[in-house]
Amino acid sequence: MSDDDARPDPVTGAPAGSPPRRVRVHHLREAKARGVRLTMLTTYDAPTARIFDEAGVDLLLVGDSMGDNMLGHPNTIPVTVEEMIPAVRAVARTARRALVVADLPFGTYEAGPDQALHTAVRMLKEAGAHAVKFEGGARVAPSVHLLTGAGIPVVGHLGFTPQSENILGGKRVQGRGEGAAERMVDDALALEAAGAVAVVLEMVPAPVSAQVTQALTIPTIGIGAGPDCDGQVLVWLDMAGMGAWSPRFAKRFGAVGEALRTATDDYVAEVRGGAFPGPEHTYAQ
Ligand code: KIV
Repeated sequence: MSDDDARPDPVTGAPAGSPPRRVRVHHLREAKARGVRLTMLTTYDAPTARIFDEAGVDLLLVGDSMGDNMLGHPNTIPVTVEEMIPAVRAVARTARRALVVADLPFGTYEAGPDQALHTAVRMLKEAGAHAVKFEGGARVAPSVHLLTGAGIPVVGHLGFTPQSENILGGKRVQGRGEGAAERMVDDALALEAAGAVAVVLEMVPAPVSAQVTQALTIPTIGIGAGPDCDGQVLVWLDMAGMGAWSPRFAKRFGAVGEALRTATDDYVAEVRGGAFPGPEHTYAQ
């Protein structure tokens, strides 16, 4: 047994050895106040959700990054609610401890609070998400306010917002230049005032993330935003070394893609050579 196994859950406070207690939105603010760093990973299916949940990842994000990471799209823009819902369902059915956050895809919330509420209700009611995330600052604060009042926790997303890559000129670091840091702090404060429970900061210079993090009482969760955020998120394929490529800010903590390729090469070779199935995989009459 490791020391960690003997301690209460650092985020929920569940006693060691007890069944997992669900991470709730109040735990996020409490974790920040106590200086406990939060962990978040994307996930899009039951098998990875089970592994990440058992490993103690606090928030599972069914991101619209599913578009480019799982569905073969060039980016997140084509992703639909109909594609997201089965993925959110699989994750929500599987996770015992983690808070499950569903992204609202491009085109399903920008028209205003009523559209955002409609899509978010689907994510909770049809798919079982515990919270939703969507991109934008002060402009989307009225939607955050309406959803929060309706009982739907919202995670904000500032910095590089992939759904706006066409207007941002590609995947580019945000928050640089005259007044940009101040504008990001103002956007983050607007989200917090509207009721957001956390804010993702993507591709933001570390000093700017630190400034935003200090200004808020809700946690910031960084992706390419330096070490001073209250938590970190990565796309799981980048984290585990599953994809062919990963961005500079993503550390590969494993070589899952290589392991899968080796296993597949071995399978092909054994089937072709007749070594598989052996007697131990074969039923007698
Ligand atoms: O869709 C997603 O995976 C995200 C993360 C990059 C934060 O929004």
